[in-house]
Amino acid sequence: MDRLDKIICSQTTLTRTEAGRLIKIGRVTVDGKVCKQASTKWDPATHAIVVDGKPLSYAENIYWMLNKPAGILCVSRDPKAPTVIDLLPEEARRRGLFPAGRLDKDTHGLVLITDDGTLAHDILSPRHHIPKTYRAVLDKPLTAEAAQAFRDGPTLEDGTQCLPARVQVLEEGENPLVEVVIYEGKFHQIKRMFAAVGCHVTWLKRIAMGGLILDETLAEGESRPLTEQEITSIMNEKK
Ligand code: URA
Repeated sequence: MDRLDKIICSQTTLTRTEAGRLIKIGRVTVDGKVCKQASTKWDPATHAIVVDGKPLSYAENIYWMLNKPAGILCVSRDPKAPTVIDLLPEEARRRGLFPAGRLDKDTHGLVLITDDGTLAHDILSPRHHIPKTYRAVLDKPLTAEAAQAFRDGPTLEDGTQCLPARVQVLEEGENPLVEVVIYEGKFHQIKRMFAAVGCHVTWLKRIAMGGLILDETLAEGESRPLTEQEITSIMNEKK
């Protein structure tokens, strides 16, 4: 049970004051009757709350996957540039959303957007070593020594030691396509790991975080809620 204004602002982008104002002027109904008291307590799981004619679909937390295009900032908000939150459809908008795990502005691919701070903390914690899978295009072929350095755990140019990573060449050539799995999340880690072995990453995409795999039917910029199964798999990841 929670206050009506609190329930509404937890499920929408409205502030508590805005929710209170709508309630006061009679634009909110509970179980079909106008409720003008912001302080009345309801269980949103069992009472039908309607705001301005739109039923409030209640979920304690939400989990969306986005196929991030390049050029979009992976932060909650920015005064000047579009962010991953701006790409979500109206139905997903609510306060407190953030991307669980950052991608660089020029990186593409899987971003998990949620308002579940506990889950985000768990999957990002270095203690849990959740694998993150990336595909990268390089500016030159990957040598056998470079691949071995990845498997041993590369040392970055500033001396930072990385955990062993998996690397596989998917398409050979002057600009090979490689798949890399890392078990930590240091700043610009993939680009810095390749820089440490003399390669430059010209294109980068994240395709998985633990068992959560990017839905390839999502075009760049598109998003969808996680399925129950995906939510369970990501929650079980840390165990
Ligand atoms: N590593 C990088 O270098 N960039 C990213 O966006 C993610 C991982």
